[in-house]
Amino acid sequence: MSVGVIIPAAGRGKRMGTKVSKQFLPLGDKPVLIHTLMVFETHPEVDEIVVVAGAGEVSRVEEMVAQYGLEKISAVATGGQERQDSVRSGLEHLQTEWVLVHDAARPFVTHGHITELLKVVRLHGAAILAVPVKDTIKQVDPAGIVERTPDRQSLWAVQTPQAFRRSLLVQAHQRALEQGMTGTDDAMLVEELGIDVRVVMGDYQNIKLTTPEDLAIAEAIWKMRGT
Ligand code: CTP
Ligand code: MG
Repeated sequence: MSVGVIIPAAGRGKRMGTKVSKQFLPLGDKPVLIHTLMVFETHPEVDEIVVVAGAGEVSRVEEMVAQYGLEKISAVATGGQERQDSVRSGLEHLQTEWVLVHDAARPFVTHGHITELLKVVRLHGAAILAVPVKDTIKQVDPAGIVERTPDRQSLWAVQTPQAFRRSLLVQAHQRALEQGMTGTDDAMLVEELGIDVRVVMGDYQNIKLTTPEDLAIAEAIWKMRGT
């Protein structure tokens, strides 16, 4: 029944372009990473959290965790080149039956969504948060010419947390490693096993800080929530 969380926080934040990696930037009164960790720290169903930090940043993250008195962090693992490598590293430190993977750079996830996701993953084995896309999405070729317009009704923008039975996620990562397969999220690796991944309605405020304009949006969401 136990629930573990992996927080990949080992990225360089190239698209954000700030000197300090985006997960360490201040948001209101504390760093983005701490906002994210506190949501899981205070969720009653979460037993254990593993943070994955960049090589050379492990002790810095350990210090931050101690400074904010976070008690559910069982390990700070060392990340890898790609997000997938970082998640795999985090997975080695968790033995819980259920595993949630959540981006450090996504500080606005709520307890309600985590609870809902846990309900669905316990029934089905694999579940992710996502929201229907608002824009029309086009597939464009390298020359900049539109190839096709997929039906918007079937398109969802995927978020985290993504939740899995641990054994399934381990198998998916192992297979990806063996086959040299890369994915931009964990669900994709699980889909490759032929497993159904359930979508749970997320929240448009659950943004990932990715490019510079996201900082102003994040400040606005933070102020609006008054947390
Ligand atoms: N991440 C990680 N290890 C990596 C790459 C990414 O742990 N090798 C983490 C990031 O720290 C972030 C999350 O995965 O919390 C989502 O990735 P993304 O938004 O792509 O972050 P970055 O890779 O840091 O950003 P960019 O792609 O712009 O460089
Ligand atoms: Mg990245």
